[in-house]
Amino acid sequence: MGGFDGKRVLVVGGSSGMGEATAKLAAGAGAKVTIASRDHDRLAAAAKRVGHGVEPAILDATSDASVAKFFADRAVWDHVVISAGAGGRGSIKELDIAAAQAAMDGKFWASFRVAKAATIAEDGSLTFVSGGLSQRPAAGASVIAAINGALERMSIGLALELAPVRVNTVSPGPVDTPMWDRYGPDQKKKFLDGAASRVPLKRVAQPEEIAEIVLFFMTNRFVTGTVVPLDGGSSRA
Ligand SMILES: NC(=O)c1ccc[n+]([C@@H]2O[C@H](COP(=O)([O-])OP(=O)(O)OC[C@H]3O[C@@H](n4cnc5c(N)ncnc54)[C@H](OP(=O)(O)O)[C@@H]3O)[C@@H](O)[C@H]2O)c1
Repeated sequence: MGGFDGKRVLVVGGSSGMGEATAKLAAGAGAKVTIASRDHDRLAAAAKRVGHGVEPAILDATSDASVAKFFADRAVWDHVVISAGAGGRGSIKELDIAAAQAAMDGKFWASFRVAKAATIAEDGSLTFVSGGLSQRPAAGASVIAAINGALERMSIGLALELAPVRVNTVSPGPVDTPMWDRYGPDQKKKFLDGAASRVPLKRVAQPEEIAEIVLFFMTNRFVTGTVVPLDGGSSRA
């Protein structure tokens, strides 16, 4: 893929899953990539897997101070991707308000903080990762649906506000990433198999497939204000 030589790419959430796959694809295409997240060891391991001289950096997108520190040098990024976030699953009766607010902070406000602080080149791009629950909310996931819906709406507004910087969102269906490792291997497999059975293509996505659309957002100079469902047809079923 052309157009990446010397380009500076920041992937917040780049130490795992879709962020890591995006970092790998961009770095392999010649970009100078920084992966940022909270945990030093996870970053170091991811930097090794990604290779290509990718730079790890500590950044907690839930912390105003951490975000301010990271962006204090006012470096100009060509492309910024935010794929951080987790939590928020549970019914309204089970989920306490603090946990729901933490999930909102960890994804919606985390994305807001990074988008506000980052300086992006005029011909550059900003990409968010939402999630298919925004289009098809499910019982037990209404908070996640709300977070992803809010993120998608914000990204469209930002596309108008930040132009000529291009702003887009990929809205994935289920993806096989370490996000599900917390369930343990057996439960993870059961969960992903169950999710796959509800996808028209009868499988879940691989993180590399999400990375491909993120790189398209970076390189296509006319794409902005879009929310692309990459969900094997789930949002159309
Ligand atoms: N996997 C799916 O099936 C799926 C489907 C639809 C949407 N999504 C969404 O897609 C996004 C990426 O998911 P994924 O599956 O790639 O997850 P993942 O493998 O768990 O990776 C998440 C990344 O975000 C980082 N992160 C989390 N909180 C952060 C914070 N406060 N500041 C900076 N970095 C932070 C994590 O590192 P540290 O924890 O070490 O900081 C990690 O690098 C998430 O928002 C998720 O909700 C996932």
